[in-house]
Amino acid sequence: MTLQQNVDLSPFNTLALPGQAARYLKITDPAQLADPELKSEKRFILGGGSNLVLTGDFAGLLLHMAIPGKRLLREDAEAFYIEAGAGENWHDFVQWTLAQGWPGLENLSLIPGTVGAAPIQNIGAYGLEVGECFDSLTAWDFEQQDFVSFDRASCRFAYRDSLFKQQGWHLDGRMAITSVVFRLAKAWQPNIRYADLAQELAAQEINRPTPQDVATAIIAVRQRKLPDPAQIPNTGSFFHNPVVCAEEAGRLAVDHPGLPRYPQPDGRVKLAAGWLIEQAGWKGKNLGPVGMYEKQALVLVNHGGATGADVKRTMAAVQADVRARFALDLQAEPVFL
Ligand code: EPU
Repeated sequence: MTLQQNVDLSPFNTLALPGQAARYLKITDPAQLADPELKSEKRFILGGGSNLVLTGDFAGLLLHMAIPGKRLLREDAEAFYIEAGAGENWHDFVQWTLAQGWPGLENLSLIPGTVGAAPIQNIGAYGLEVGECFDSLTAWDFEQQDFVSFDRASCRFAYRDSLFKQQGWHLDGRMAITSVVFRLAKAWQPNIRYADLAQELAAQEINRPTPQDVATAIIAVRQRKLPDPAQIPNTGSFFHNPVVCAEEAGRLAVDHPGLPRYPQPDGRVKLAAGWLIEQAGWKGKNLGPVGMYEKQALVLVNHGGATGADVKRTMAAVQADVRARFALDLQAEPVFL
């Protein structure tokens, strides 16, 4: 095993921030993880780098997950079970499942990143979270020095959250997810409740959409609103949508009648961070090279040449202005390294 030294990470993070990893290893085969040399190192496990803020150089070992592979593992009367390697590109994987005739993931089209990263923050969009189509995953546990499996319940999926985001798990380098199995129900129904999606299909005069129609509509909506990281570096939504108790949401709505409110199954109410940021004056506003995107205020963008410090400065300024206006604390969505 040969570790590379002082590897430039700017091509490996979609915010295009500068920084080097002291040591770097590309993982294309799960067996590489069992090398005892990796156990003693301070590790960071990188997927597509689309949910990462690089704050400078990383003094440890960066494991770049690039394990390939996708296949139908099995099927039963109710569902297809599809397995994919952690390094597969998420969007390409979703389009491949659709081409094979296994729908279910179409609402998650065009989300940047990899298959292995998808369960960590339980990626979600347009009325679907990946946890809903999840069967199990396999990960290498550096402490136990063995592969371990997690079923859906043990992953503790929640809004943009899972067991792997808790302290001591994936983000601390304890384990590296190597493959994921998805359960795609055979009884497919289009999931088109999300207003933007319903409007897009209506505009195209599609009344009974196929899975591919839904994917195409999602791609169109995303391309209209969200910047392509290859052109304007970004990490998608930069903050979580705050979830507050019903009383607090009611109080805020009295002072701010336009406030979008999404009641949750547990009685709490999700608020739209993009709306709060826009109201705080940050839509299309920049501080140095970093700003909030002109078409979707929840997306922080690097207009060129930004460092992690620039990102933190803009983040703090947005948080302060939202706090001053709404007394709400916005939590950053990406991981900081
Ligand atoms: N809004 C504004 N101004 C803005 C942006 C949004 O007023 O600048 C309002 C919209 O008009 C709408 C509400 O806020 O009433 C919600 O906006 P949108 O539908 O665009 O969704 P979002 O809550 O901003 C979430 C996810 C996205 C996902 C979309 C669609 C989070 C943190 N973000 O965004 O996920 O694509 O819903 O389902 O939950 C990501 O995580 O990277 C991501 C892009």
